[in-house]
Amino acid sequence: MASRALVYFLFASAFAVVTVHCNSEGDALNAWKNNLSDPNGILQSWDPTIVNPCTWLHITCNSENSVTRVDLGSAGLQGPLVPELGVLRNLQYLQVYNNNITGSIPAEIGNLTNLISLDLYLNQLSGHIPSFLGNLKSLMFLRLNNNNLTGSIPIGFSQLILYGNLRIMNVANNSLAGTVHPTKSTRDALYALRRAVKDPLGVLKSWDPTLVDPCTWFHVTCDSDNRVTRLDLGNGKLSGKLVPELGKLERLQYLELYMNDLVGPMPKELGGLKSLVSLDLYHNNLTGSIPSSLSNLSNLKFLRLNSNRLVGRIPRQLTKLGNLKILDVSNNDLCGTFPTSGSFSKFTEESFVNNPRLEGPELMGFVRYNVGGDCK
Ligand SMILES: *[C@@H]1O[C@H](CO)[C@@H](O)[C@H](O)[C@H]1NC(C)=O
Ligand SMILES: *[C@@H]1O[C@H](CO)[C@@H](O)[C@H](O)[C@H]1NC(C)=O
Ligand SMILES: *[C@@H]1O[C@H](CO)[C@@H](O)[C@H](O)[C@H]1NC(C)=O
Ligand SMILES: *[C@@H]1O[C@H](CO)[C@@H](O)[C@H](O)[C@H]1NC(C)=O
Ligand SMILES: *[C@@H]1O[C@H](CO)[C@@H](O)[C@H](O)[C@H]1NC(C)=O
Ligand SMILES: *[C@@H]1O[C@H](CO)[C@@H](O)[C@H](O)[C@H]1NC(C)=O
Ligand SMILES: *[C@@H]1O[C@H](CO)[C@@H](O)[C@H](O)[C@H]1NC(C)=O
Repeated sequence: MASRALVYFLFASAFAVVTVHCNSEGDALNAWKNNLSDPNGILQSWDPTIVNPCTWLHITCNSENSVTRVDLGSAGLQGPLVPELGVLRNLQYLQVYNNNITGSIPAEIGNLTNLISLDLYLNQLSGHIPSFLGNLKSLMFLRLNNNNLTGSIPIGFSQLILYGNLRIMNVANNSLAGTVHPTKSTRDALYALRRAVKDPLGVLKSWDPTLVDPCTWFHVTCDSDNRVTRLDLGNGKLSGKLVPELGKLERLQYLELYMNDLVGPMPKELGGLKSLVSLDLYHNNLTGSIPSSLSNLSNLKFLRLNSNRLVGRIPRQLTKLGNLKILDVSNNDLCGTFPTSGSFSKFTEESFVNNPRLEGPELMGFVRYNVGGDCK
């Protein structure tokens, strides 16, 4: 008797779950189906008289028969998204890319708080991106590119990138305000720097990590092609490390990061800044040696690395920097001798003072101080 009662109870509660949960989810999907034209019969298995949608093709459920995936990419569907989709509260993947979806994105999509991936790219969606999408804290992939969306990118998206899980956001190829499609490497470089440094004065506050034009950010200057030419971040109380991604800013002419609290080594990737005219990193706490890759900066005129904690030899390759006008490596812990040939022939000892282990100029044509010397 008791066991029969228990079985009955389990069945009843399971049935209750099924009706409450899944009929409403099935109803929502069916409402969407009724608004879509489906020339390829992709939604044929979506039969609303079945007790839940978990057996329908292109639908995946969890163990509680609640929908977690809708996979309808490249299905030839035409018509709108419907607000009813907002009831699919366990949905993690909404894949509806490359169809002919029209109309606007319903604000109710912002209720799908478990959503990991929202892929609506390559459709004909129009209207604004609902600001409610900024609620999607679980979101990792947001691809809305190649639609006809207008308006601006919701402010909340920058929070999702900086503090949430959002890893990929593509809103390109729409008609959104403030997007100029900066190159991927520019975005990578600037966001990497922003993430790497502490910024107690809020110097980088305007560096909004959505695709908004970085040329409108404070302390960033661009040329007429919207490529970054200057970073003016001197005296900004920035602390942290320089990031190798900075080396991707191919048009950068001025890298001004003097008088901050930067630590760690100078990334060798800075040698990739082939347009660089001025490298000002003086008055920080940089360590490690001067990368020999800087000898590739053929446009460099100003190299000021003074007042750091740089060690090792001054790379001889720097003498080939034909445009170098000003060199200051004073107040470090450099060692060995300093070169006197090439562009270095015009620098006086003043460029090198206060490096207690630096032995003096190398003796051209004579035995070099350097030879075999132990200098690290
Ligand atoms: C969109 O609709 C047009 C016209 O019906 C069709 O030719 C095209 O293949 C559709 N595009 C997609 C991605 O389904
Ligand atoms: C879906 O279809 C119904 C019935 O035709 C209609 O009332 C509703 O406005 C449609 N929904 C959208 C988002 O177009
Ligand atoms: C979903 O979102 C809309 C608008 O953001 C809201 O009004 C509604 O109460 C939410 N809940 C459900 C279950 O749709
Ligand atoms: C979307 O934009 C494309 C080109 O930008 C245009 O050809 C198409 O008519 C637009 N579609 C809608 C539905 O507005
Ligand atoms: C924008 O559209 C063009 C042409 O369809 C495509 O080649 C490009 O990859 C798209 N850009 C992005 C970022 O999706
Ligand atoms: C470098 O580090 C020292 C010791 O930690 C600190 O006193 C000094 O203020 C720092 N200098 C700069 C420019 O950050
Ligand atoms: C300088 O650039 C050349 C060509 O881009 C590269 O092969 C070389 O490794 C670079 N030199 C240094 C010291 O990084």
